[in-house]
Amino acid sequence: MYTQAMDIPDESGKKLASVSNAPSEQEAAFEARIEADGRIEPQDWMPEAYRKTLVRQISQHAHSEIVGMLPEGNWISRAPSLKRKAILIAKVQDEGGHGLYLYSAAETLGTSREQMLEGLHSGKAKYSSIFNYPTLNWADVGVIGWLVDGAAIMNQIPLCRCSYGPYSRAMIRVCKEESFHQRQGYEALLVMMQGSEAQKAMVQDAVNRLWWKCLAMFGPPDADSPHSAQGMRWGIKRISNDELRQKFVDATVPQAKVLGVTLPDPDLKWNEARGHYDYGQIDWAEFWNTVEGNGPCNKERLATRVKAHNDGQWVRDAAQAYARKQQERAMKEAA
Ligand SMILES: [Fe+2]
Ligand SMILES: [Fe+2]
Repeated sequence: MYTQAMDIPDESGKKLASVSNAPSEQEAAFEARIEADGRIEPQDWMPEAYRKTLVRQISQHAHSEIVGMLPEGNWISRAPSLKRKAILIAKVQDEGGHGLYLYSAAETLGTSREQMLEGLHSGKAKYSSIFNYPTLNWADVGVIGWLVDGAAIMNQIPLCRCSYGPYSRAMIRVCKEESFHQRQGYEALLVMMQGSEAQKAMVQDAVNRLWWKCLAMFGPPDADSPHSAQGMRWGIKRISNDELRQKFVDATVPQAKVLGVTLPDPDLKWNEARGHYDYGQIDWAEFWNTVEGNGPCNKERLATRVKAHNDGQWVRDAAQAYARKQQERAMKEAA
């Protein structure tokens, strides 16, 4: 799904300002490529801090896709119809695919998948804080599609132009799939809003609980995002957190009107002079508390993820045994 603005530092990220002692022609070539809006490829020289920033961002993004499967996966067995079940299975499977693309993109930077998974499973690595909240009713699944995938699209469209080639190319396909995710969520909510009063109340309740968390997905305000400026200079990040958040609010307010729900913000109103909607204060203390591991579902999500990984050990063992056998056979034939 889903990046929040992925500049949430982890342990390794704190050492970001490492100074490169690479030969200056290589550095100049890198800078010139960035300046010309070209792409950096895995075999190209790159500053260590650029590499580290990308590994952190892409792996956090991959983790978010994988952990993001959990809150919705909980509803596959409880979807209200065969049609909704088929759509939800397809969506959750897409998210798994996004995670795998992104781990592969991060591996081109020299970090192994085992290292990245170890970071996730030990709690050192971050993932989007939105998935540490529960999905309490069926409308949550629709709201995740509409708002969470909607916020993810807003974040990820500019990443299609990211300066790192493998990441930018992965994002092109991912964004197409996210667009389907957003639409299926919105359509499911439109149907519920034509239903009973109880169904309408479920939609409103889900919007009330998730709206502010979605605004926080864009990451801390620009003034508190020291990594963002460097990310912009390197062409990794193209649009700032606050600008993306504003675009999301402006795009979502008319959609909420069509749907017939209220967005839970008394300060939300059109500002003629700015040409944008004004909105209220995000609770950043709550956001950081959740990022730090203390949200309502952090422990449960991580435990489920670790269990799924351990339960899948036999599949990885079998795949490796099969690959070994194929290789041995090929070598015998070649001999
Ligand atoms: Fe998605
Ligand atoms: Fe995704």
